[in-house]
Amino acid sequence: MWPGGSVFLCVLCVSVVFRVNGRAWCLGGSSDGRGAAILPAMPKGWFITFEGGEGTGKSTQLRLLDDWLRALGHRTVHSREPGGTPLAEAVRAVLLDPALEPDGLSEIFLLEAARHDHVERVVRPAMAAGAVVLCDRFTDSSLVYQGLVRGLGWEEVETLNRLATGGLVPDLTIVLDMDPEVALARAHTRNSEESAREDRLDEEPAEFHRRVREGFLELAGREPDRVRVIAADGPPEKVFARIHPVLPEALR
Ligand code: TMP
Repeated sequence: MWPGGSVFLCVLCVSVVFRVNGRAWCLGGSSDGRGAAILPAMPKGWFITFEGGEGTGKSTQLRLLDDWLRALGHRTVHSREPGGTPLAEAVRAVLLDPALEPDGLSEIFLLEAARHDHVERVVRPAMAAGAVVLCDRFTDSSLVYQGLVRGLGWEEVETLNRLATGGLVPDLTIVLDMDPEVALARAHTRNSEESAREDRLDEEPAEFHRRVREGFLELAGREPDRVRVIAADGPPEKVFARIHPVLPEALR
């Protein structure tokens, strides 16, 4: 991969390397000397992210997909944002501490710092080793929460996301969608069961969560090929059955 660009010349195999939907391909002479070929540029895994409001069941679905992929023999790495490395987990604790209340701008810089560390230390190495990386939230959460709902601006957050990730885009993003009132009731039950869990954003007013939902639906409208909306109501197995058809053929 290369920062921000989509085409470059590979001096090793004298070929043009380009990117489609975050996946690198190589156009050049084939190794058997029979002329031009289009080949994957490097051994590369997959990057699948889960997005949605609080309490929509992202972690449960991610676990189900992880188990399912492993049973099929895929190597997986299960991660989350903010988080996934010691540095990023420390930033997560700061972000979710109700006592600290960073404003939108402080929030996005903290998130992007955590994201850069996570992408460089976990996501890219795992993908280069051919694993399927499953991540609970990624850049799209920043677009929706900070860009749209906190009002920092979609393009501004896109720029920061690109800087932090070097232009890494998930192969597939699953948005779990449901009525925020129902989802929040679920999140609150979960939070009171896990006493150690602190979550400042769970405490936002209903209007905030309604706008988050609309933000994710807008995202899916902007990038319908990558971002797939899945109805998140009902038992976990039923929701997972809805996810299955949108998974890449190569993983099924
Ligand atoms: P969760 O991972 O348990 O859903 O909680 C993480 C919280 O952080 C959630 O309220 C959404 C928020 N968040 C952002 O506001 N922007 C981001 O870019 C990310 C990754 C999370």
